[in-house]
Order: sequence, then structure tokens, then C-alpha cells
Amino acid sequence: MELDALRNRYLAAVSGAGDEAALEDVRLAALGKKGEISALMATLGKMEPEARKAAGAALNVLKDEIDAALRAKKAALSDAALDARLATEWLDVTLPGRPRPRGTIHPVSQVTEEVIAIFADMGFAVAEGPQVESDWHNFDALNIPPEHPARQEHDTFFMARADGDIRPPHVLRTHTSPVQIRAMEARGAPVRIICPGRVYRMDMDQTHTPMFHQVEGLALGHDISMAHLKWTLEEFCRAFFEVPSVELRFRASHFPFTEPSAEVDIRCSWAGGQLKIGEGDSWLEILGSGMVHPKVLAAGGIDPTKWQGFAFGMGIDRIAMLKYGIPDLRAFFESDLRWLRHYGFSALDMPTVAGGLSR
Ligand code: DAH
Repeated sequence: MELDALRNRYLAAVSGAGDEAALEDVRLAALGKKGEISALMATLGKMEPEARKAAGAALNVLKDEIDAALRAKKAALSDAALDARLATEWLDVTLPGRPRPRGTIHPVSQVTEEVIAIFADMGFAVAEGPQVESDWHNFDALNIPPEHPARQEHDTFFMARADGDIRPPHVLRTHTSPVQIRAMEARGAPVRIICPGRVYRMDMDQTHTPMFHQVEGLALGHDISMAHLKWTLEEFCRAFFEVPSVELRFRASHFPFTEPSAEVDIRCSWAGGQLKIGEGDSWLEILGSGMVHPKVLAAGGIDPTKWQGFAFGMGIDRIAMLKYGIPDLRAFFESDLRWLRHYGFSALDMPTVAGGLSR
């Protein structure tokens, strides 16, 4: 009678346990070292042999029964927990996969990265300067004094101050050359930098936009010469246009900030309306360059009797058009998605000299 009551009580407790912790409490109360059934087992030793045999068998049956109930309940509880997790973490494997990212890298960004990769490989660091630039950095320091005719050629956007006074004047930089001055001020000599970035001029037609991109180069040392300039630009063009060899033509020219100055043309062919770099009978102008003018070195705080070097400036948009056969500059800045998909680059292919620039 007493065991029947125990059985009913524990089987009810087992089936009423709401989680594994409650179930463990039931197990300890019944079968634990200090549990009720265990306590009864301990009394067997003091019984008469006959009584002990009968009581022992009955207690073992009861113990097995409770044990089996505990196990069954435990399995049911963990099944229920798994079902609950599956219900919240389900995944519809019949759904379509994620679409590929649709954004692309703009040709200007791509070409900028390509240019940086090539010059970085030759030991040039990337320098930056502000787009709203002081008139002094943009012009005077580059040997373009106020009365110099080159000022007019630059179609400058002037910044007005809130009070209407435009002195000291600031401009939207008309070229990346002022970063030469800033790099000299910040880094001194020797120095080897390039500066890619946005520049602004009041101009708009098929080959001009009010904002466009240039990359400036500057290398100063004790004996850096035109020969170094020529080698550097040839190496750059060969790597950039991804051809085995290129031929450059240095044409005497004039820039206020270099002496001597040269404009550089690259040999190309237009056979069949298709531009090919490195062969043919045509020449295409791609950049301006020269030996940094002593006055420019002095403006940058560098002693022109101790240091010399070359500089160059190149249109990024222009070399992007040439390399990737893009006919109209204005399309670069129209954000036409069809154009961007056609001319854009995969975001996952970073240009490197070793791994390939454009693939
Ligand atoms: N700053 C010139 C321009 O915008 C380009 C240029 C020419 C830069 C010759 C240079 C250089 O550094 O040496 O047209």
C-alpha cells in the first residue's frame, strides 16, 4: 500500500515536470543518495531475511519503474525543446539564392586604383590635399603670379566668403599641382608622391566637365633628372595599358611650375576605328611634366640648391576613356545605371600589379 502511494506520487511528479531542471529535482527526491526510495532501500538490512527478499524485490521494481518514467520524460522534454528551436530557426530551402550585388566600381575609381597600384609598386606614396584650396597654393606657389596669363586659362571657380569679401581668396582647385606644395611642406625632401583627386574648371563639352580627375606626381632627390621622369612614365604606361611595350614622345612645352617642361604623347593606332596603344603611326597626348621649377621648390620650403626632381600631371578620366574605349566624358557623371553596368567593374577584383590590373 505504502509503495503504491509512493509510485503514484512520483509518477505524477515526473509527468508534471515542466523542464529538465524540475525533472532532476524529482529524480533526486526519489532516487538520489538521500532520496525517499534510497532511504527505504537502506532499511532492508535490518529486516528478517524473508521480509527483506519480498520488500527488496518490490522496491527494485518501483525504482526501475520511476527510473524508466524519468528517462521517458527527459527524452520527451528534449524533443519538445528541439521542436521549439526548429520552429523558430526554420529555413525555406526552396527560396531563390541571393542575387549578385548589382553595384559596380565606376571606371574613374577603377583607374584611380590602378594608377595607385602601379605607382605604389614604384615607391610612390599617396598624398592628399583640399579641394577648396587657397589661391596661393593653387597659383602663386606654383609660380603663377596674379598677372600671369595661365590664370585665365584655368577657368577658375572662386569661393565667395559669407561676408561677401573674397580676400584672402579661395578657389576650387583647378589642378592637383597644389598638392605638390602641400607634400613638400608636410614631408620635405627627398619625397616621392602621387596625388589623385578631383579638380574643377568652368568648362563643359564632350571632352570637358566642370569637375574631373587628375593625378599629380612628384619625385625629389639630389640627382633626379628627366631620365628618371622618362623611365617612370614609360613603366607606368606599359603597366597601365597592359601592353608589352610603349613608345613615348616628349614634346617641349611650357608650364610655369616646371623648367624644362614637356608634354608627353604615346604612340597609338586608330586602325579600324579601334584605339591600340603601343603601335601605329598616331600620337596621343596624355600628360604634362617637367623638372620642378626652383621657385616652386622654394615655395614648398625646399632648398633648390640642394634638391631637384620631376613632376607630372595626368587626366584620370582621359586615360580611363583611352584604356576602356569610353567615347563621351560627360557620361562619367550622369549616373546612368545602364552605363554603369556596362562600363563598371566588379567590386571584388582589386587591381594589383602582380595579380593583374583590369583582368
Ligand atoms: N597642372 C597641369 C594642368 O592641370 C598639369 C601638369 C603639367 C602638372 C606639368 C605637372 C606638370 O606637375 O609638371 O594642366
